[in-house]
Amino acid sequence: MIVAPDGSQVIFVESDAMDDFHYVDGQLHCEQVNLDELAQRVGTPAYVYSKRTLLGHYDRLAAAFAPLDPLICYSIKSCGNVHICRLLAERGAGMDVVSGGELYRARQAGAGMNHVVYAGVGKTDEEVRAALEAGIGWFNIESEAEFENTAAIARGMGVKTAAALRVNPDVADPRTHAKTTTGKKETKFGVDIERARRFFSKYGADPHVRLNAIHLHIGSPIYSPQPYAEAIERALDLIKRLRGDGFEVTALDIGGGFAADYETGQSPLAEQYAEQIVPLLRPFHEAGGRVILEPGRTIAANAGVLLTRVQYIKSGGSRKFVIVDSGMNHLIRVAMYDSFHFIWPTNVAPAHEPPARRDDLDLVGLEACDVVGPICETGDCFAKQRKLPPVARGDLLCVYSAGAYGMVMASNYNAMPRPPEVMVDGDRTYLIRQRETLEQMVEAERTCEPV
Ligand code: LLP
Repeated sequence: MIVAPDGSQVIFVESDAMDDFHYVDGQLHCEQVNLDELAQRVGTPAYVYSKRTLLGHYDRLAAAFAPLDPLICYSIKSCGNVHICRLLAERGAGMDVVSGGELYRARQAGAGMNHVVYAGVGKTDEEVRAALEAGIGWFNIESEAEFENTAAIARGMGVKTAAALRVNPDVADPRTHAKTTTGKKETKFGVDIERARRFFSKYGADPHVRLNAIHLHIGSPIYSPQPYAEAIERALDLIKRLRGDGFEVTALDIGGGFAADYETGQSPLAEQYAEQIVPLLRPFHEAGGRVILEPGRTIAANAGVLLTRVQYIKSGGSRKFVIVDSGMNHLIRVAMYDSFHFIWPTNVAPAHEPPARRDDLDLVGLEACDVVGPICETGDCFAKQRKLPPVARGDLLCVYSAGAYGMVMASNYNAMPRPPEVMVDGDRTYLIRQRETLEQMVEAERTCEPV
């Protein structure tokens, strides 16, 4: 049982159930919905989300960090569907945005603008203006040049705003993929922690952009609470020095990066991150400091799956290829980061219901397969030598934990339409994004005007 931070709701989250995708008599369900029947109605490929899982992960995080009364800014980049953002905004989440497009989504979702943080190394003047007009809570500033530009625009518009300086605490989690680690010195993000004091002495008195917070984001996913502890200690030390220099620092944004349950039991739970982080930040919070979190993946990843249908079975050398109707165009994580996504047929003999979501399941009658997509690239592969129950043409497969960095990173590569998105709520299903049409893919090209 978990009591929501406002004390009013009691939400039940089973400690070992990280999502609401489960088998009933060999048939995969999302909440109470039979996924084969759903796929018959909406077609494949399709992204399917569980509302209960989505909100359950948000609540779980909120409860774990409740002693810090944090502002939880959902990282829209992880799964930006407006309906999903709206559910979280209604639950009390602020939003973490990185572009004018995400700011627009946050607005469409009805998020409180003063609870929006805006990060990104390359904000354009137009985007900065839109964010100033919207009255967002904080700009997460990543360079001196960006600060000067933001201040100049704010001055020109005659408005005031607040900003956090993003610093690199120079820590890293060895398990985080090279393409998604950001806390080290050699990244394009933020400024080195040693540069922060100079930054504050130069810009700390700006009348239009009030520099009053520190922002961190050390990477994603971070599989251990330890790098957070190190980064937070460095940030608190910096805040102490800045305060010693006479600056007011009222907020600390510790970024996102909490892991998701891609493989059963391989990632810390929200409570385990909180166990290490909360005691470190408690004195800061008790002295009036505002703590901000920017989680995306840990809320959205396990809430979504990608359903894809087997088109053909083919052998090549000693390999068996299972060719499906979705690939790196719809879920690029495996091709880009060598990520693990559990894959299993949606309809299996009861003996083949998976006891856990892992690579090394050892059930009788499994066969090693390469699950590949239709895209004309060798890298278009969801899994190599993965042991699966028998599968045949027409079977439906579920690619798990695809809610975060799935649909948002989908493309039209090979001119294939992007999938629809469906939200399941109990026994009801809602189409929250239509399948793209062939016409929509060429619509913007129906022009050839001189420019
Ligand atoms: N805050 C900042 C400043 C970030 O850059 C990110 C993610 C987040 C928050 C949210 O991180 P999360 O809680 O979702 O881990 N496409 C990659 C992940 C890229 C993450 C980029 N930044 C993937 O599929 O693994």
